[in-house]
Order: sequence, then structure tokens, then C-alpha cells
Amino acid sequence: MATFQGGLPDLTRPRPEPGSGPAVYVETYGCQMNVYDSQAIEGLLRDEGYNLVQEDLGADVILLNTCSVRDLAEHKVISRVGEIRMRREKAELPQPVIGICGCMAERLGTELRKGPRKVDLVVGVDSYDTLPGILKDLTAAGHAQVPEALRTHTGHRNDAHYVAPPALYPTNNSHLVTIHKGCDYKCTYCIVPQTRGPQSEKAPGTIVEEIRGIVAAGGAEVTLLGQNVTAYKWSDELDFAGLIEKVAEIDGLQRIRFLTGHPRDMHPHLMDTIGRLDKVCPWLHVPVQSGSDRVLRRMKRLYTGAEYLDMVDYARRVIPDVTFSADIIVGFPGETETDFQDTLEVVRKVKYDQLFSFKYSERPGVPAARLPDDVSVDEKKRRLAELIKVQEDTWEAMAGQQIGQVWTAVVEAEARRPVGSWRLRTANNRKVVVHDADLAVGEEVRIRVTDWANTTFVGEIPA
Ligand code: 5AD
Ligand code: SF4
Repeated sequence: MATFQGGLPDLTRPRPEPGSGPAVYVETYGCQMNVYDSQAIEGLLRDEGYNLVQEDLGADVILLNTCSVRDLAEHKVISRVGEIRMRREKAELPQPVIGICGCMAERLGTELRKGPRKVDLVVGVDSYDTLPGILKDLTAAGHAQVPEALRTHTGHRNDAHYVAPPALYPTNNSHLVTIHKGCDYKCTYCIVPQTRGPQSEKAPGTIVEEIRGIVAAGGAEVTLLGQNVTAYKWSDELDFAGLIEKVAEIDGLQRIRFLTGHPRDMHPHLMDTIGRLDKVCPWLHVPVQSGSDRVLRRMKRLYTGAEYLDMVDYARRVIPDVTFSADIIVGFPGETETDFQDTLEVVRKVKYDQLFSFKYSERPGVPAARLPDDVSVDEKKRRLAELIKVQEDTWEAMAGQQIGQVWTAVVEAEARRPVGSWRLRTANNRKVVVHDADLAVGEEVRIRVTDWANTTFVGEIPA
């Protein structure tokens, strides 16, 4: 059911029975874009009669959809290949066809076909349409003969925009919809412009049709995805603000989230639009990366700390109940203690709901790789721990102030423990658990905050 732009699938069509073809297991690493791509891969293969399985040991084919953003992410995948091979050997089972998809496929290409952990197949982010055909060859008798040239498919194509079938069990009940791919920013630490290529937009008509299909299949919420969704630009007349206006017109769709925003694209007219449209959730994931102007300049982030804080202030004025989350890198080349303290200051000022913080990891070939990676591993660790502590303290002070508030939240699922408990989420992305209540998934309810633990609030249904 996954297809390329131009030929929309009928997303309301019943799912085919499990295929009688080879069993395929897809394992996903990295970001939400990869989660969506894995859904697209599964759709493509299911349509061709492959049998998708949830456990790797019984699979004829294992596809690892990978991430290159940090060194550690890549190491994990390489050791996973070794582990899969060993497990099969120990169980005296035939070796599966192992394929690497995603960003590592683009970055390393034919390198992945060499050495002791070599894989059978390498397929990059714009080449998933080759998978059904090549897997047929690789799982047929005489597969060892498949020529080398057919085992690596990489490189960027403008027309390769996937439309994945709606997930049966979407993350947080939100269906992912990729709206564009690639990235035209040139942040100096980042490998993504290399692995995902230049920015290219999925057509607005395709996006709207895809979301209509999700609603027809029972979905109520979508998360629009892209490396920098806020940079979406179909034409001079249609930017990201225009796109969310169009999406908000879809009957039956209740909530729209989006990931990831670039602070530089958060123009007042976009924030005004977000604030004005009821369906657009008031939650901004806007990575700041650093609070130091000197570091931001060296990262080529195109804004200063003060400009970022102005953006946050403006958003708070025009988007009711808005919350923020962000990514931060510590230990970028040349980051001094003073620079790091500037980052902590921004964190204290913004009061993020959630922070994703990372130690700088040098990626081969990116512009920052020319700078000496001069913050020691121990110092990066120390800064990361301090950042996490400041975030926890800031969050605790904020969370305590929420007790007694009454919020609207949507029931996402039954909580695993204790019986009779439910997981809910507010439009501004706050997690709430409610005990001893009679609720149903998808229901929108009012809750009163009574307590909190870690990043989850506890609520009760007001009498
Ligand atoms: N080292 C560490 N973190 C990185 N990120 C991107 N590139 C690197 C790198 N080289 C982080 C950024 C980005 C998130 C997805 O990953 O914070 O927003
Ligand atoms: Fe990883 Fe970034 Fe590629 Fe997503 S786009 S898989 S986070 S490197």
C-alpha cells in the first residue's frame, strides 16, 4: 500500500491477509521519520505478498532501518548484525537475509557489504521501491548468485515520497505523516543533509488525501513529520502555515501535531496561525542546540540565544497553553564552561516540558569534523549530567504549580498497572494517568491534576 507521489493508494481498503511469501521482520532505529519509513516499507512488502512478522528468529529477511546521527547509533546496528548471525548459528537455523535501510545505508553504502559483519543488502532512504523485487531474488534458490550491483541501492530522488498505510497501533494514537524529506540547512554538526539529501516537498494534495485516508480508517490525530517541517514550502503561496490551514479543514480530523520545528522558521505569522487553529496542538518542539551565541554561530544555526527567547515569548503570547521541548548538544568543538552556562540559562528561562540532550559526536565529512573535538569525554558527560539536573529541577518547580489545574485530555490507552488506570495526553503534550475511572480509548475528558511523578501527571475526573 505504500506508494510514491502521484499514485495514491486506497487507505480505507481492508488489509490483505498475511502473505504466503517470505517472512520479513523490520526493526527501526532513530527518529520518527524512520518509524514512518518502516511503515511504508511494510506496506510495500505486504502488497507484494510478503509475510510481516513481529519476531526476528522466524524471519527469512531482517531489515534494520537505521540512524547515523551519532556514532553510538551506528555501532548499535553493527553489533546487532553480529548478534542476529550468532543467534541463528546457536539455534542451528539458516541465516536470514539481512538488509540495512535508512541513513546508514546512504552514509556507508557498499562499505556495509564488506568485513565480518557484512550484510546481504543495502537500501537507502529513496530506494525502498526496489525492495520487493530484490528480496524476491535474495530469498529464491540460488540467491548467492545475485550480482553485487543489485545489492546496494542508494542516492537521492526528488520523486520518492512515500505514502504509508495508517498504522494499526500508532504511537500515542497519533498517525505519522511525512510531509517532506531532506534538509537544506547546513548545521555544521549534522549528517542528515548527507544521508537524507536536499529538501523536497510531498505535494499538499497528496498530504491531504493521505490524512483523509487516515480519518476514514478511524484516525483522529496526525503528527506531520519532517527534518524541518516549519521550512515546508510548496510555492510562494503555500508555506507550512498554509499547509496546516489546509489540513485543519479536513472533516473528522481532531488534532494536528508536528515535528521538528527550526527556531529560525518560527515566523510570527506561523505562530499566529498555530494559535488561531483549534486543531493544531499547542506544543512546539524547537531544538535550541546551545544557548551560546558563539557556539550557535559555529553550528550555523542562524539565530542567537536572544532571538530564540524572543520567539518563545511571542509563542507564549499568541498560542494559548503552549509548551516547549527541545534538543541540546553539549560539548560541541570549542564549547567553554561559559558557553555551557549560557545553555543552562536558556533552559532555566524557557522552562521546557521535555529536553533531549546529547553529547556531541563527531560525524565524518560534516563541516564541524574539521574543528578539533576538544571537549573531553568526561567533560561532555559532566555537562550532560548537569544539564539533565537543571532540567529536572526546572521541571519539578513547574510541575508542582500545576496541581489543582483542570485540563482537557484524550484517553490513549489502558495503563499496564494498576488495573483500572488509564494513560491520557493533553493537546500540549502532557502525559496524565488517571486511576479507578471508567474511560474509553479516544474519549476526551476533563481531569484535575492531583500529583505528578517524573514527567507524568496524576489526575482525577472532577465530580
Ligand atoms: N552529535 C550529537 N548530537 C547530534 N544531533 C545531531 N547531530 C549530532 C551530533 N553530531 C542531535 C541534535 C538534533 C538531534 C536529532 O540529534 O540535537 O536535533
Ligand atoms: Fe537518524 Fe536523523 Fe536519519 Fe532520522 S534522519 S534516521 S534521526 S540520522
